[in-house]
Amino acid sequence: MTREVAINTDWYFIEADSPYVDFDDHKWKRIELPHSPSVFYPSYRDEKTHQRTWVYRKTFEIELESDQEVVLRFEGIANRACFYLDGREVGSHYGAYVPCELQVGRKENFTLTVLVDSSEDPSIPPFGGSMDYIGFCGIYRSATLVLRHSAHLGGVRVVCQDSERVRVSGSAFNADGLSVTVGLYDEQTLVQQLNSTVTDGSFELCFESLSLQRWDVPHPKLYHVQVELADKDRRTVRFGCRSARFEPDGFSLNGEKVHLVGLNRHQDWPYLGYAASASLQREDARLLKELGLNIVRTSHYPQDGSFLDACDELGLLVFEEIPGWQYIGRDETWRNRCLENVRMMIERDANHPSIVLWGVRINESPDDHELYERANKLARILDPTRQTGGVRNLLHSEFLEDVYTYNDFSYGGKGRGLLAKRKVCKKDSPYLVTEYCGHMYPAKRYDCTEVTVELAMRHYRILDAAHSTKGLSGSIGWCMHDYFTHANFGSGDQICYHGVLDLERNPKAAAFVYLSQLKDEPVLCVLSAMDGGDLPKGFLERAVVATNCQTVRLYYNDQLVGEFEPDFKAFPHLKHPPVIIEDFIGDRLKSESYLSDRQRRSLARLLAKVGKQAGRLTFVDTLRMGLFLLRYHKTYEAAVNLFVTYVGNWGSKLASWRFEGLIDGKVVASETIEAGTAPMMDLLPSATTLLSDGPTYDTAAIRIQVRQKGRVLVLPYAMIAYTVEVEGPVVLASPATDCTIGGSGVIYVRTCGEKGDARVTVHSVLGDTTVRVIVS
Ligand code: GAL
Repeated sequence: MTREVAINTDWYFIEADSPYVDFDDHKWKRIELPHSPSVFYPSYRDEKTHQRTWVYRKTFEIELESDQEVVLRFEGIANRACFYLDGREVGSHYGAYVPCELQVGRKENFTLTVLVDSSEDPSIPPFGGSMDYIGFCGIYRSATLVLRHSAHLGGVRVVCQDSERVRVSGSAFNADGLSVTVGLYDEQTLVQQLNSTVTDGSFELCFESLSLQRWDVPHPKLYHVQVELADKDRRTVRFGCRSARFEPDGFSLNGEKVHLVGLNRHQDWPYLGYAASASLQREDARLLKELGLNIVRTSHYPQDGSFLDACDELGLLVFEEIPGWQYIGRDETWRNRCLENVRMMIERDANHPSIVLWGVRINESPDDHELYERANKLARILDPTRQTGGVRNLLHSEFLEDVYTYNDFSYGGKGRGLLAKRKVCKKDSPYLVTEYCGHMYPAKRYDCTEVTVELAMRHYRILDAAHSTKGLSGSIGWCMHDYFTHANFGSGDQICYHGVLDLERNPKAAAFVYLSQLKDEPVLCVLSAMDGGDLPKGFLERAVVATNCQTVRLYYNDQLVGEFEPDFKAFPHLKHPPVIIEDFIGDRLKSESYLSDRQRRSLARLLAKVGKQAGRLTFVDTLRMGLFLLRYHKTYEAAVNLFVTYVGNWGSKLASWRFEGLIDGKVVASETIEAGTAPMMDLLPSATTLLSDGPTYDTAAIRIQVRQKGRVLVLPYAMIAYTVEVEGPVVLASPATDCTIGGSGVIYVRTCGEKGDARVTVHSVLGDTTVRVIVS
């Protein structure tokens, strides 16, 4: 039988530009895959530091059965690899995002050397033009040794679009006349078994009269088939039973309309670059699902298999696309590599039930009839069950795909959130918005509240528009998290701050827009800072609350201000519009019992104006205020006192604001904001159990959030230095001395081959905080 063995350990690595370097091990570093030769500090970088050549080396000692040969499979090498067997060049691979296989033949003892060129070679997509992301470096995904017989399986495809039928087909090499046995399993239980014979290099069989459960977003039921080619080869393929279709009037999953709400994802991490092990890939899928989304776009390239596996398991739909960014190469080499990416992407990923659309056009590229006709044709041959899309920023451009996928950046802060469909494409085309927001309004975690709340409001506005745009399947925002980019994009520090999460994956205010729309559990997050001193004129004009509660009650120093409703007027199509509070006086004026309700309302308006206009009232308002003072025999000081009590700003008594979310009259969520409360450092581990015996090292991300007790968002100005101490069987994969940026940070620890209890302690002026991680 074919045997597959992970080959991620015991590699040697050196920075060099030739494979013929001194093999003295002392000069090399021993590493494991996934590996990044460069450390990606989330700050200003010299862009050339990672665009270099590196050499990896590994020695193999294998025992082959008769008729077995060796194949090495690499899931991702950025960006070009040249392979040498015992010093002799034997092959090469171009492109970072799809796997490559090296046929070694019948060799039992050999040394493999891989010369990796991480420069952005313009002959390889996505490179050639200017682009808003970087190609990272190294052998950044895992690798496998395959020992296979000359008779072996090629690709296996499982198609299941209705619950009764599953079609399994595939190719097999040197295997004509050999039997193929396919078992269909629900977990460990065999549901049915069928046999076939390889004829002309292929086989096909169909399971009938089944009653399988559907794979869908809330219940992503998975099955698997085990395919055995006589006693030569065996393959397990997981699948889900679902139909997915983009239609002119929306997207249907299993025949039912589903409005798509999603975000784009890049696959980069601080410090690690692209080189993240499976658990971090999966963690990203979990975070997206946690936000309540139902779709992710793998912008702008095929992403790690374990990310897609997690999407299958979690019920997160995927729009996967080929590598590229606006630029199309004119020469045949570039174009063929682009088509090769289409082929490899579909061959690698066609069995993932989560994938509902192939992106076969270079993101935001101009029309190119010749290339895109070929790309679409190829995709349809390789996978007749899925539709194609091609993301563009062009209105009514040449439409060779099945779904018009458009980046709509039309919203600049005013007016409608999205264009009407007729302005973008034909009425009878299936239509999906694939990006919005992004560069139109970058917001850093440590930006002031006006900026971070405005970003959130734009997401609200566009989601509202997406629900009311006729013939739109949904929208996928730009983007999940801040990401590394080239210096001619982003904020000058080679970061694009377009995420609803930051680079460390901690949420910004905008993340709660999604959470509040789509989660079933009560959500309440006060997006606005309540600190007048950080606002122009020291005036607190409004508080935006992201919530799925029916109303929000606000208390000021335990005094009821009022009960406020979601703003259905401004956001009529959202299930849960934000609650926007602009009156912070409200019922508190009831303490002035000598006033009638009407007088209270008018005094509240006047006092608010004093705050908003920094004391400069119009002539009429001054007259009104004068009359009020006269009528109630109040002095100027008494009026100032009223202002300080009810509006307050610069230096007035510390406020405590309590927001309570109510459903059916019951308080189900609350947040208290009290300036001056001691900050604390929360450590949020992505996992507290790590595996030491997986195919490679396992990693936990420990997110750091500095916040005040009772608050949901992290403190935007908490820049707190810390050191990290690690005890037990894990090693640090991020700096031991670091600093939270805007209250946010991240630590990565990874296994090192031993088992036991590990402790990760963060020391800072806020005290020591420890997380326990068990390595089993
Ligand atoms: C789009 C592009 C994305 C990103 C985004 C920023 O044009 O497709 O990759 O650059 O703009 O808003």
